[in-house]
Amino acid sequence: MTLSRPRISKAVIPAAGLGTRFLPATKATPKEMLPVVDKPAIQYVVEEAVAAGLSDVLMITGRNKRPLEDHFDRNYELEEALRRKGDESRLARVQESSDLATMHYVRQGDPRGLGHAVLCAAPHVGDEPFAVLLGDDLIDSRDPLLSRMVDIQNQHGGSVIALMEVDPEQIHLYGCAAVKPTDTEDVVEVTGLVEKPDAAEAPSNYAVIGRYVLDPAVFDVLRETPPGRGGEIQLTDALQALAAAPGLGGPVHGVVFTGRRYDTGDRGDYLRAIVRLACEREDLGPDFRAWLRRYVTEEM
Ligand code: G1P
Repeated sequence: MTLSRPRISKAVIPAAGLGTRFLPATKATPKEMLPVVDKPAIQYVVEEAVAAGLSDVLMITGRNKRPLEDHFDRNYELEEALRRKGDESRLARVQESSDLATMHYVRQGDPRGLGHAVLCAAPHVGDEPFAVLLGDDLIDSRDPLLSRMVDIQNQHGGSVIALMEVDPEQIHLYGCAAVKPTDTEDVVEVTGLVEKPDAAEAPSNYAVIGRYVLDPAVFDVLRETPPGRGGEIQLTDALQALAAAPGLGGPVHGVVFTGRRYDTGDRGDYLRAIVRLACEREDLGPDFRAWLRRYVTEEM
């Protein structure tokens, strides 16, 4: 049964991280602005939120993140120059990012972890369920995950997280969920969560990936959540509290994702994401694939 609940309209995108894994590229440029083919990584994430019907986007930023605001704003000088040249297709590309969504920004003055970043969204979000999208995870637009999560939240209330099965030796890189099956194949009930466990202690091989639809009760829990792994306030710990006491803010469900996900937070995975997406592009793909085939067979 689908209950009539307020439609989710707000997306929160934490983007205050320092991007140390990409230094020196990220010395003066936010890591979210690194291009994936020819669009900054963050634009894919905002496009995904909009495709799921969430057109009110709050970014949690920090010092040195001004280019993010500029990217989603108009650039009249550049637009005028392209107009004068008659370069309509580039003009349209430039305007895409400023026409996408209603953007809001708040600064996380003192970066104290993902849970703390999400808590910075409380005044903007208010008392409605909302989505959180982490910029390091790109979800292929052909495999819509967030809209499925919004539907599941609408059915069950509470919170919904995205899960993916990973090799046990990879689980220490992720939040990990203990789960029980439900009647729906791709949906599980989350009974416990632990942030980045050692393989031996992991309750399963279900890894949390960077998409969440959260009940606003998470804010009260986050206010009480002490620093956890790495001395940071962990969103996973707050979700564990919600899963352990469904009376606080409803149940926690997981949507098990089996589609295409690209991790742009790691240099090797970032390169793989670019190659895969470039190969699939209609404009660049045919030439790039032909070159790649030659390169792999003749030069490697
Ligand atoms: C964060 C979360 C973790 C989650 C991961 C998904 O970790 O804390 O639970 O599995 O995102 O990408 P991070 O990768 O930011 O260290």
